[in-house]
Amino acid sequence: MAFETFKKMNLLKFGYDWLNQRVPLEAAIKFATKKEVPVHKHSIWYYMGGICMLFVVLQLVTGLLLMVHYVPSYEGAYQSVMAINNKIPFGWLIRSMHSWGANLFIAILVIHMFSTYFMKAYRSPRELTWFSGLGLIGLAMVFGFTGYLLPMDEMAFFATKVGVDVAGEAPFIGELVANFVRGGEEVGQATMNRFFLIHVCALPAALMGALGLHLLLIQIHGISEPEYFKKLSIKKYEKFFPDFIMNDMFVWGGVTLLFLAIVCLNPWPLGPTIDPSAPAPIGIKPEWYFLSQFQVLKLMPSQFLFFEGAHVAMAIIGAAASTMVLIPFLDTGKNPTISKLATIWGVVFLIALGVLTYMGLQV
Ligand code: HEM
Repeated sequence: MAFETFKKMNLLKFGYDWLNQRVPLEAAIKFATKKEVPVHKHSIWYYMGGICMLFVVLQLVTGLLLMVHYVPSYEGAYQSVMAINNKIPFGWLIRSMHSWGANLFIAILVIHMFSTYFMKAYRSPRELTWFSGLGLIGLAMVFGFTGYLLPMDEMAFFATKVGVDVAGEAPFIGELVANFVRGGEEVGQATMNRFFLIHVCALPAALMGALGLHLLLIQIHGISEPEYFKKLSIKKYEKFFPDFIMNDMFVWGGVTLLFLAIVCLNPWPLGPTIDPSAPAPIGIKPEWYFLSQFQVLKLMPSQFLFFEGAHVAMAIIGAAASTMVLIPFLDTGKNPTISKLATIWGVVFLIALGVLTYMGLQV
């Protein structure tokens, strides 16, 4: 009898009611349909956060699949990545997606960061959205640094060695941090254990926390409106659900197709195996997103006035990075001159990043 009643019921409605009694589903749908996104000539930048989210998902899925065959050991890592590339069905595709994905993720994060910067979305009440974003880009860079070592090819090994040595140059705590990260004097199994654990456990957990906060804050505050838009007498908005989400899906589809084309046409290479006793090969350099910092260190003479050149370079990098942390407090929107200066600083920062990275790529 009970089964007959169940059959007659609309299954969808049954599922909806069941869930709604347990979680505030109706309230969530009402909230999403009430939420509106401003429509103006810069609206395209509102899609960048969604593309970042797409890459988070792609990285988590491809990373999990890689872990099925990857061996996190100093001796076995290279062979296992070789097998993923050459023997495991579609292994090359998953590895290529993960490596390309890591780079494109950081590129899109930089675009998202600067687009929200130039739209002044860091201003009150979105300071914490901005800070959680800074946390996310920091985490993405540590993801990149720790992941770079994992295939244990020549480039990975020596670039990590150089990267950790550079960190060791920092005043006071540099040596301590470098030894802790390496797990000893040299890059070896202890380094591998640390990098692997950080890459697959600590960072994903931290990313989920920071991303959860970021997305929650976006829901609380809604999407920001540029200053000129706020002053318009007639403003256009679109519904977040279903209109904006629908567009988001088209964007995700397009980006996924483009991504697959890049990945398939240029599979990610695997360099030669390492010989730790050999000198570092010529042309060792970090991933492109560390090149600007690396270049500042390289351009600095070994001695600058009374200070060690490396310390001065690190102070410059630290000071430049801290302007991004302080910007919500400096440019609150009350002073038009400061607002203009903040925009000019953003342009200078972006050009400096571009030029230094380009210089680093030429070496
Ligand atoms: C995993 C990384 C990230 C994800 C998945 C993500 C996702 C999103 C999404 C979906 C939005 C709403 C739509 C949009 O404005 O694009 C957004 C907004 C925002 N994001 Fe991110 N984001 C990430 C990293 C960052 C970074 C690195 C920053 C800057 C340092 C940042 C700062 C902001 C700000 C200030 C907003 C509010 C924009 C507004 O209200 O107009 N986000 N983010």
